[in-house]
Amino acid sequence: MIQLRGKKILLAISASIAAYKMPELVRQLIKAGAEVKIVMTPAAADFVSPLALSTVSKNEVLHTVHEANSWNNHVALGRWADVMLIAPCSANTLAKLANGLCDNLLCAVYLSATCPVLVAPAMDEDMWEHPTTKQNVARLVGFGNKIIPVGHGELASGLVGAGRLAELDEILAHLEAHFSTVPKLLSQCSALVTAGPTYEQIDPVRFIGNHSTGKMGIALAEVLAAQGATVTLVLGPTSERVTHPGVEVIHVASAEQMLLACSNVFPKMDIAIFAAAVADYRPENVAHEKIKKAGDTLELKLTKNPDILKTLAAQKSPNQVVVGFALETQNEEENARKKLKEKAADMIVLNSLRSPGAGFGHDTNMVSIFQNDGTVQELPLLSKTETAKAIVQTILTYRNARKMFKD
Ligand code: CTP
Repeated sequence: MIQLRGKKILLAISASIAAYKMPELVRQLIKAGAEVKIVMTPAAADFVSPLALSTVSKNEVLHTVHEANSWNNHVALGRWADVMLIAPCSANTLAKLANGLCDNLLCAVYLSATCPVLVAPAMDEDMWEHPTTKQNVARLVGFGNKIIPVGHGELASGLVGAGRLAELDEILAHLEAHFSTVPKLLSQCSALVTAGPTYEQIDPVRFIGNHSTGKMGIALAEVLAAQGATVTLVLGPTSERVTHPGVEVIHVASAEQMLLACSNVFPKMDIAIFAAAVADYRPENVAHEKIKKAGDTLELKLTKNPDILKTLAAQKSPNQVVVGFALETQNEEENARKKLKEKAADMIVLNSLRSPGAGFGHDTNMVSIFQNDGTVQELPLLSKTETAKAIVQTILTYRNARKMFKD
């Protein structure tokens, strides 16, 4: 988290149960080298201890405009900060900020802040979905504030839905992206990535799937976004999370849904990487009711799924770069070269399930990149992020070489 070193972050905490996570966020910010000052609404102290916050931030925590005969200079605080992060932002505080109310220190600091403001809302789903909240969020965005999207999952009410405070690593990724000054090699570029397995439905309770977790494709999407690309990730069912704010995720289940989502965006993409482990076949008929146990054997008739990579590579324009993966357990090189040719890709990344530490579920991978000009690049065992960086670098070199050749 190199981008956060030396940055001045003003954390503003309002009254939401998620406030209990803030000492950990502050600890991670401090660890990343940031300086943190904290303001909170008076009611936020019911959910998190100011003593814990001042201990981890090594700064006094302020919650009222007047304290022990002194006046807290809210203007100075807003000017001190490089960024103000309002997390968690309750429905009440969100409404106050959207309407310019100023009845506590947090609101006063927000109103006078000259720095950029990031808002991480947290509330119950019904409150989050209420038209008033939607309007308030739109107003805050209209004023130039950035909203860190809420998460989906278990809520304090016991219900499950949208409205959770974004996970801490997502909040940190938004801050990182905010401060990112690294020259971006792909800032004018749009990229499509497919990742994860597909689930092909058999009946309402069963499906055909595979062990893919989508980690490699997610790493590629995040590396492309970190280089400034506008990334669309078409993601099959997985519990892996995407943290980079520059990645738009389209969730799909089946191969047919994946093809449809990809076809809609493919023509405007500069780069397309097909890293998903797509099921080659799906049940010919999906049973509407659960298939009941009957004889000793059960026959399922399967029909071929569309080949997403092959279908779209056949439509590619000369400026687009299309990259596929090959997952093999035997005759690896031969099969990779065959796929490169048959699918008309610009390159194929070979993944052998025989290499230890490579393939499904691992955080590491060992791949070789086969290009359509015959070159092969073998990478050592690396983390999936490092592998993704090397693949993206190869794509960049390939694109540049092709451009030079054309010019
Ligand atoms: N792929 C695809 N659509 C499919 C099957 C595969 O887009 N229906 C893509 C994968 O995302 C990958 C590449 O094609 O980029 C190769 O996938 P792989 O599973 O290795 O090979 P298959 O083409 O499915 O052939 P086989 O299973 O016989 O090895």
